[in-house]
Amino acid sequence: MGNEAQKYVEVEVQRQDDSNSNPYWEKFRVPYRPNMNVISVLMAIRENPVTTDGKQTTPIAWNMNCLEEVCGACSMVINGRPRQSCSALVDQLEQPLKLQPMSTFPVIRDLQIDRSRMFDSLKKVKAWVPIDGSYDLGEGPRIPERKREWAYELSKCMTCGVCLESCPNVNSHSDFIGPAPLSQVRLFNSHPTGAMNKDVRLNAIMGEGGLANCGNAQNCVAACPKGIPLTTSIAALNRATTVQMFRNFFGSDHMVD
Ligand code: SF4
Ligand code: FES
Repeated sequence: MGNEAQKYVEVEVQRQDDSNSNPYWEKFRVPYRPNMNVISVLMAIRENPVTTDGKQTTPIAWNMNCLEEVCGACSMVINGRPRQSCSALVDQLEQPLKLQPMSTFPVIRDLQIDRSRMFDSLKKVKAWVPIDGSYDLGEGPRIPERKREWAYELSKCMTCGVCLESCPNVNSHSDFIGPAPLSQVRLFNSHPTGAMNKDVRLNAIMGEGGLANCGNAQNCVAACPKGIPLTTSIAALNRATTVQMFRNFFGSDHMVD
């Protein structure tokens, strides 16, 4: 039996040398192996950074961490769709693969982007449960199982940025915080201890860059790799902020129901 002909993966990568330089495209041809994901293609290019037309180039920069669609670090635009490169399988993709950095975030280099805008938004809305860790507080409050189940769904957010990338209202001209941080407000407001800061979180999203910037395009919920019900969260927050607005107006106390 003769040797099977070596198959190749054709790849086109949008590159950028630093945050201020202009993007340019390079083409690569990588030896195919069964079950390759986009990260393994990028690693093969890193081993041998030579373009299809034989030009020696620099290794491509990208972010990754968990390699199992949990950390959100490896998001990029693959064949026009924002998604995680660790779970993007070559066998399921049309070639040439077209890899681009997500456009909503500043490029650091090549496919590496700076997701600080999302983390800053999480700080702005206090997306955590405030506890004083200096002494043993004992067991936390009990949560009904049905509530725990849906809260768990919201807690799967990995700050990957895909929902911001797919939202037409998140861009460099807007300070809209986007769907993911909004949904986290709903998550932490639903927690019995987190609810102590419910009014602070709601007021934060009633201000600049908040809920009012949502144009209800519904792209986010279709794009989220974790299936988080983002538009349901946004609708719930619209109701909660309306109540909060009356509370603010009538000067009610800060007790949380
Ligand atoms: S809500 Fe979904 S798409 Fe948006 S950052 Fe979280 S995991 Fe990613
Ligand atoms: S490397 Fe963590 S989600 Fe892909």
